[in-house]
This record gives sequence, C-alpha cells and structure tokens, in this order.
Amino acid sequence: MPRFRTLDDLDVAGKRVLLRADLNVPVKDGKVTDATRIERLTPTIEALLEKGAKIIVMSHFGRPKGPDPSQSLRLLVAPLSQAIGGRPVQFAADCVGPEAERVVNALKPGEVALLENLRFHAGEETNDPDFARQLAALGDAYVDDAFSAAHRAHASIVALAHLLPAAAGKSMQAELEALGAAFENPRHPVMALIGGAKVSTKLELLSFVTRKVDLLAIGGAMANTFLFAKGRPVGRSLCEADLADHARIILSNAEEDGCDIILPEDAVTAEKLEPGVLTRTVGVHAVPMNAMILDLGPQTVARICLALEGSRTLIWNGPVGAFETPPFDRATSAIAKKVAELTRAGRLMSVAGGGDTVAALAAAGVTDQLSYVSTAGGAFLEWLEGRELPGVAALSEG
Ligand code: 3PG
Ligand code: MG
Repeated sequence: MPRFRTLDDLDVAGKRVLLRADLNVPVKDGKVTDATRIERLTPTIEALLEKGAKIIVMSHFGRPKGPDPSQSLRLLVAPLSQAIGGRPVQFAADCVGPEAERVVNALKPGEVALLENLRFHAGEETNDPDFARQLAALGDAYVDDAFSAAHRAHASIVALAHLLPAAAGKSMQAELEALGAAFENPRHPVMALIGGAKVSTKLELLSFVTRKVDLLAIGGAMANTFLFAKGRPVGRSLCEADLADHARIILSNAEEDGCDIILPEDAVTAEKLEPGVLTRTVGVHAVPMNAMILDLGPQTVARICLALEGSRTLIWNGPVGAFETPPFDRATSAIAKKVAELTRAGRLMSVAGGGDTVAALAAAGVTDQLSYVSTAGGAFLEWLEGRELPGVAALSEG
C-alpha cells in the first residue's frame, strides 16, 4: 500500500477544508434508508471541527447528466446535521461559482457547509482541470474520506487532490489500514470467501485472490459455474456455461499457487426462488434436473466453518446463497455468525465488503462484530482485483 498523508499532517486551524465525502446513500420517498456512509463521516468532521477548520462537504449523488432537482443533495442537509450532533449545516445550491463562494465566505471556524451534487457539472466525471480549479478556489486544504468513490478518476477525487495540500480522512484511513492488514501483511492462514451471482463479474478478482490467499471458498450462484466445469449436474441453476474454461483455469492456477479451494459439496435446491418454497438438500452429485441450487447445504457450511476456525484472516465478498429470499439466507447467516464469533474471540481478523455482503451481514445482525466492514461496492471489488485506485493514488506521498 502506498503511504498516504492523514489529518495529522494537515494544518487546518481557521482554514477552509474541502471534504470529499461519499453521500451517495440509498434514499426512498425522500428518506435515507441506510445512513452508514453519513455516519462514517462523523469522526473526520469532528476532528476537523476540533482543530477549528471551516468544513465544506462535497459529494456526488446518483448519476445525473447535468442539473436535476430530483438528485439534489439538499435532502442530506438534515441527516448530515444529525450525524454531527445536530450542528447546523449550510447548503450551497451550486458546488462552484458565486453561490458556492457566498456560502463558503460566510463560514466561521467550526462551521459546516454542504455543496450541491458535484455531478451537476460535466467536469466532475471528466476530471476536468478547470472544474477542479473552481473547486480548489473554495478551499485551503483537501481531505478525501470517500474510499467508496476512490475507483472513480473524477475531478473532486483526483485533479483537486493535486491542487491543494491533501490528506485522507479518518474513514479512508481506517479502510486503507484494514484492507492493508488483510492483504499486505496478514496473519496466515488467510482465507477468502467469495460469493455472488456471476463468475463473469469476478474473473479478475478470483485470479488475483487465489494468488494472495491460502484458501478460497466459493459460494453463491457463481459456484454453480465451477460445479458445471467439474462435470456436476446443476439442473436449472444460474450458471455461466460459457465460462467453464475460465473456471477450470482459475482452479488450476489456484493449485499452482498453493491456494486450496472449497466448492459446495451439498446444496439446498428448489424448483422456484420464492419465500418459504419446498426445498430439498442434496449432494452436488445429485442435483435434480428440474431444480435450482439456491444455497449451500449444511455439510458445506460445516466445512467452511471448520476452515474459518483454522484461519487467522478472512476476506469476504458476496453472499453464499440467494439470501434475500428465506430460507436461502441460512448458509450466509450461519457463516456470518461464525465469523462474528471468531472475530469477537480475537481469533480472526475479518474484512468484508460489497453492497450485498453488507446487507447480508446486517440481516444476520453482525455488522459491528467484524474487524472491518467496507461500505464500498465497486471500489472494494477493484481493490480485490489488485488494481490501483485513482483516489488512493492521488493521496499518496511521492
Ligand atoms: C458507489 O455508490 O458505489 C459510489 O458512490 C460510486 O458511485 P458510482 O458507481 O455512481 O460512481
Ligand atoms: Mg456503484
């Protein structure tokens, strides 16, 4: 991991600090349905306030193509204020130009403003130097606390970081340290648990991970492609038959790299993916032609739990079954509880990330019992593919 500057390296007293946040939170009927990303910003804002900074929060929201009132960040003023103990938050109806300057110029040390959606300006996504200069004019220093957007080479993330003294915020720092601890100098054995629907979205990830870890357990519908590649019957299961060759290459590379693989031995099957449907648990040699594999069976769960007991580090991405439809949440939930138990006991350092994974951990009620849960989706996956994230590179020293 490249070295990066932190808040300790920045002199911010009385200064205007541009804080890049990821306030791209889920909203339904005008209400935030999961405030985790907003809450994760609190430590950074509090640390900056303590140092007497004037804080200017910037973020994207959704994927607007130009100004669009339905994607305004105004709706996040109240949730943001709530996350910082009810402190008032000023709103600027544009993120650059006279309106932004008016709001920023009125800020006193210890006050907070939120700028309108960065993506209302095309220059954000094109990493436009002129747009970055307009943003830079509003601040004296730059703090990036948006790991979940670090895979985007956008103006507020990359170009701007080079125009002002820049540092990682506390959440960004915690995220980089947790991922570094899991990947760069981990305690062995290191296990990865990768699930989700499709091998096609995780080809690079699987190739990178097998080079890095001692043991890889594969679950979710993507395991079906591996089972198919090994000649097992998968019935009507979701399966990417055209990727069978890729799956075989991943397995043989893993063997060369000394990475053991756990594939499902048994499975919970049903004819339909519906809540409470009639299920049959079978060995993977005996999946009926008209059935779909929808979750790991108990024998496989037991094997994964045993492997977890023997591991010191876990990297987890992707649910191992169709967890949104009970009873196919059972294996994911049982594994999540085991991971939580071993982490609590100090026997496992556990890092998990990705949208579905976070939802599955929340459903199992163990989110706060893992060593680190990343709120990042795409950025977490790109990290697991071994790619350099532009937003992290922009903060790196030398
Ligand atoms: C996310 O939610 O994954 C980040 O905020 C990035 O959003 P984007 O995928 O629209 O760039
Ligand atoms: Mg995304």
